[in-house]
Amino acid sequence: AMDSGVAKTNIDDWEEYKIELEERVGAEKRIISRIISAAKKNPKRIVFAEADEEKILKAAQLIADEKVGIPILLGNEKKIKRLIGELNLDLDCTIIDPFYQEEKVGAFAKIYFEKRKRKGATVQEGRHQMLDRNYYGAMMVETGEADALISGLNSDYPNTIRPALQIIGVEEGLTRVAGMYIIRNKKGTFFLADTTVNVNPDVEGLVNIIELTHRAVKFFGFEPKMAMLSYSNFGSAKGDVPTKTAKAVQIAKEKWPEMIIDGDIQANLAMNKKMLEKTYPFSDLAGHQVNTLIFPNLSSGNIAYKLLMEIGASEAIGPILMGMQKPVHVLQAGSSVREIYNMAAIAVVDAQATANKKNK
Ligand code: ACO
Repeated sequence: AMDSGVAKTNIDDWEEYKIELEERVGAEKRIISRIISAAKKNPKRIVFAEADEEKILKAAQLIADEKVGIPILLGNEKKIKRLIGELNLDLDCTIIDPFYQEEKVGAFAKIYFEKRKRKGATVQEGRHQMLDRNYYGAMMVETGEADALISGLNSDYPNTIRPALQIIGVEEGLTRVAGMYIIRNKKGTFFLADTTVNVNPDVEGLVNIIELTHRAVKFFGFEPKMAMLSYSNFGSAKGDVPTKTAKAVQIAKEKWPEMIIDGDIQANLAMNKKMLEKTYPFSDLAGHQVNTLIFPNLSSGNIAYKLLMEIGASEAIGPILMGMQKPVHVLQAGSSVREIYNMAAIAVVDAQATANKKNK
């Protein structure tokens, strides 16, 4: 009577479901702890552009105490020291205030000018930019004075990510960076992208997001089963989104034949293994539990993850910035101390991978 399309009328199904759930939840519990232990094995220097924020300092204390990373604090030294005192922290880190780093600002401005002289930049402008901690922090990572940058707690996303895009830029061989969220709830661990960067990606942009996300999901130890989401199923409706998503999937399948991906597909079908198998047995996703959702545009991706965070009783890790040449992670405004700490662990693991790539 209460058939929602997924009714578990058969007790065998239910038992099977419970076992599957237990297996998955067991693995998931370890995802962030796995990242944290990996970080501790080889802690890296993380520069915090907003070190004059209480939450950043509290997170930095945890990071230093647990040896997850080595925080570098950017901001007004007096203010930071006062806050450390007020918060009763015992934080002994390098504090850098760009306003008192005349020499460094000059050197960074020159590098900035060299990088961007054919994009209208001047040394003068560079000097001015370097007083902005997002620029200064990005330049520290670019020049190897820090291994990763974390910012964005108290500023809007575009203004935080832009300096990093201009100074560090996208990884070689890729055209775009993108943001991923890991959402965990009792149903499993799910990877969502792009949730933060590309406003309206075209086919090529979607293929790029698919590639980045596929790699990131594997990096976190999961086998990606990817659905390219739309409001249509395999051409059932017309419009830009069904067309571009189908095309992106076609290209991805040609480029990476082993990749498990399909779409255009609606979110409910993507998430419901039984319904998918029954309705679209021809789909490459039939028989798989999808764990990776690629969204057709930023509106859907950003709205979906925020809805899940607020009403889905989910734990969320992110946004994880994928595809930067060097590790930069932009916090969601208003992140908690725990979220900042988690992001630091991710940044360290990301920096370890970057160092490995360089050594190869
Ligand atoms: N990947 C890689 N590089 C990029 C990307 C991308 N997706 N987008 C822009 N760039 C590069 C450009 O090529 C340019 O490089 P260049 O100056 O060396 O040539 C540089 O970044 C700056 O680009 P602009 O075009 O000047 O900057 P734009 O204003 O387009 O900024 C930005 C890019 C900030 C990512 C923009 O697309 C944006 O605002 N996206 C939406 C961000 C957002 O609001 N997200 C939602 C909230 S996030 C949250 O909820 C946590």
